[in-house]
Amino acid sequence: MGKVQGTDISTLVEEMANAGFGHLEESILQCSDCALREGATNPVIMKGSRTPRVLFIGEAPGKTEDMTGIPFSGRAGKKLDEMIGYMSLSDDDYAVINAVKCRPPNNRKPLKGEIEICRPFLMAQIKMLDPQVIILLGNTAEEAFCRSKKLEWGIPKVSGGISIVKIYHPAAMIYQRSRIEEQKALIDKNRHLWE
Ligand code: URA
Repeated sequence: MGKVQGTDISTLVEEMANAGFGHLEESILQCSDCALREGATNPVIMKGSRTPRVLFIGEAPGKTEDMTGIPFSGRAGKKLDEMIGYMSLSDDDYAVINAVKCRPPNNRKPLKGEIEICRPFLMAQIKMLDPQVIILLGNTAEEAFCRSKKLEWGIPKVSGGISIVKIYHPAAMIYQRSRIEEQKALIDKNRHLWE
């Protein structure tokens, strides 16, 4: 892909999106533009529908995802599945991707530079999947998508015709059980976006 640092990535994103899913997948698999690829077993690309109404964006693969190559296939994935059930979405309705495609060592948060290097892939995926609603799962997804913190929890904003809403990362439901009810309230407030 070549080193991409920050600035205007729109041409690259456009080219990748126009080249199709197979080409994008190949580009992600071939990428070695940051050090994460060296420590990763499998880059993790997406799961779900290629024509989703709702697109979930997580942070980065964990241990299970690194082994399987499938986003949210471990413990946090069980929580995400419960959330998706609560949202009453069917399999055709949604897709799941991550801000960063390769697992950071010891599940640390991806660094700003790593997020930035992976960002053209993220933006190309969004362009190709063309959702009506983007659900940012936590602050890292927000930083990757918005390049800064701009959103309040559960308060949607429209950008480029897409409704964007930030809710808690599913892993927060594992470590802070009180978050489960709070998350349900954030989902209930926003049901009109996808129903
Ligand atoms: N956490 C994430 O943000 N993404 C995954 O795929 C798994 C856990």
